[in-house]
Amino acid sequence: MAQNGSHPVWWKDAVIYQVYPRSFADSNGDGIGDLPGIIDHLPYLEKLGVDALWISPCFQSPQGDAGYDISDYRKIDPLFGTVDDYETLIRDAHEHGLRIIADMVPNHTSDQHVWFKEAMASEPGSTSRARYIFRDGKGEQGNEPPNNWKSVFGGSAWTREAERQDGKSRQWYLHLFDSCQPDLNWDNPEVRTEFESVLRFWLDRGVDGFRIDVAHGLIKEKGLPPCTERATMVGEDDDKTPSDAPMWDRDGVHEIYRSWHRLLASYPGDRMLVAEAWVKPLSRLARYVRPDEMQQTFNFDYLLCRWNADKYRKIITDSLKAMHEVGATTAWVMSNHDSVRHASRLGLKDAGARPQGIDAAHEQPDEALGLRRARAVIFMTLGLPGSVTLYQGEELGLPDHTTLDRKYRQDPAFFRTDGEEIGRDGCRIPMPWSDKGPSLGFNDTGELWLPQPAQYKNYAVSVEEKDPDSTLALYRALLAARKKHGLGTGALHWAEPRDHVVEFLNSGIRVVLNCGDKPISLPDGKILLSSLPMEEPGQLPANAAVWMTETTD
Ligand code: NOJ
Ligand code: CA
Repeated sequence: MAQNGSHPVWWKDAVIYQVYPRSFADSNGDGIGDLPGIIDHLPYLEKLGVDALWISPCFQSPQGDAGYDISDYRKIDPLFGTVDDYETLIRDAHEHGLRIIADMVPNHTSDQHVWFKEAMASEPGSTSRARYIFRDGKGEQGNEPPNNWKSVFGGSAWTREAERQDGKSRQWYLHLFDSCQPDLNWDNPEVRTEFESVLRFWLDRGVDGFRIDVAHGLIKEKGLPPCTERATMVGEDDDKTPSDAPMWDRDGVHEIYRSWHRLLASYPGDRMLVAEAWVKPLSRLARYVRPDEMQQTFNFDYLLCRWNADKYRKIITDSLKAMHEVGATTAWVMSNHDSVRHASRLGLKDAGARPQGIDAAHEQPDEALGLRRARAVIFMTLGLPGSVTLYQGEELGLPDHTTLDRKYRQDPAFFRTDGEEIGRDGCRIPMPWSDKGPSLGFNDTGELWLPQPAQYKNYAVSVEEKDPDSTLALYRALLAARKKHGLGTGALHWAEPRDHVVEFLNSGIRVVLNCGDKPISLPDGKILLSSLPMEEPGQLPANAAVWMTETTD
């Protein structure tokens, strides 16, 4: 594919669009999105103006955690298509000027992976078991789990194997997520060799990079010492101090990423790695993007930030500084398939908070206010230097499904916490492509793996395409202007701080975001784009944003 002339390293300022395949577009009407569905919509993505697609896992999987439980890393699950389809996707995407980032899940396999089946069929102490983390239980009968670690999805992080045929004592295996996702033993060289081979398999097929799932979890503290707090990925409170849990962010992970860096560098083109690492503080996160490790790491502090100008300013400053210290750029993100969509989070009383899912029993977000803020916050996000990852549907202003009935729930976190955590289904609802038809254009049959809420009709692509003031039109305009003015490769200069206002200059563009509930005065200049019509000249309404140029002519 052609290199972008002015940017030799494409990922530094790339806008990456996360495709969640099962909910993007369904070509064969079975209710689950698939690879041909993505291929059909490449022109839409090209027109949107993004640079790359991150494709969430579509490898062979029993779908115990929506594909984050992989049973064969070299096959595509028939639900989504074939390896040929994936190759077609890569080729066609490249023809549309879009790079492809695959999703790699190295922390755990599925319990249906051949390695785990072999391990279960073999003896304690065998080489097959040494690929995973098996331990004897505590107590006289070994009835107690080997330590007190908790699963991110709730309950114990240990499951005991069923009755053994050979009469030997039943062991326990570690799973930081669901019991169908046994953790691999990354101290075992065989595991490292296998994953290098898997990475090569997909690099040989032309992927431009990998998003690395749970990048902070691969190495566990020696001896598996007890953990004092619940092993959540990150605290809900954005001020929470860093976790020192023995399963996260161990120094040993970095050697793995150094070896992958070398592997990717042996291929032509600027292939890249992006870490999903829920790590605090930013100085620890920056270690994942040192020059000989990964290229990007999602900035979850930004995602977790409340709707508060002081906090935004601080997180932006701290992030740019921390990443600059290791020579990296920042990868801004507001939504993904694990978090309530930001259009909904910004409509909560505690605006920007990240609840573990929302259902009818919870506070319902103010939809209009959330949308208004979501349209404003993207001015800040796309105005920043660095890379940005968008989550499918945010370009439409989609909210979560916040009243999805319990009977539809699929997220293992919902079941492992007995419904205490609602889980992530609400942000994974199939895309509305059309305001007509029983599945709003997701397919022709009306089959849906999760039902769409009634209001998705108003956000359909077909509706927003016709409306010059739609969120889709706004995203297209912002993405085009970001590229034209080179904001992604620019530098940020803060304006004099004002209460409730985030204001900075980047590459001749002045970005002004009003997080307050009253209008503010705008400096002189020409408004290039605005999230809302101005009610009074020179006044920026509450919960709104603009991009301005310095000149008034
Ligand atoms: C992070 C992924 O984004 C999430 O969806 C998944 O459940 C966990 N990792 C476990 O793989
Ligand atoms: Ca399908």
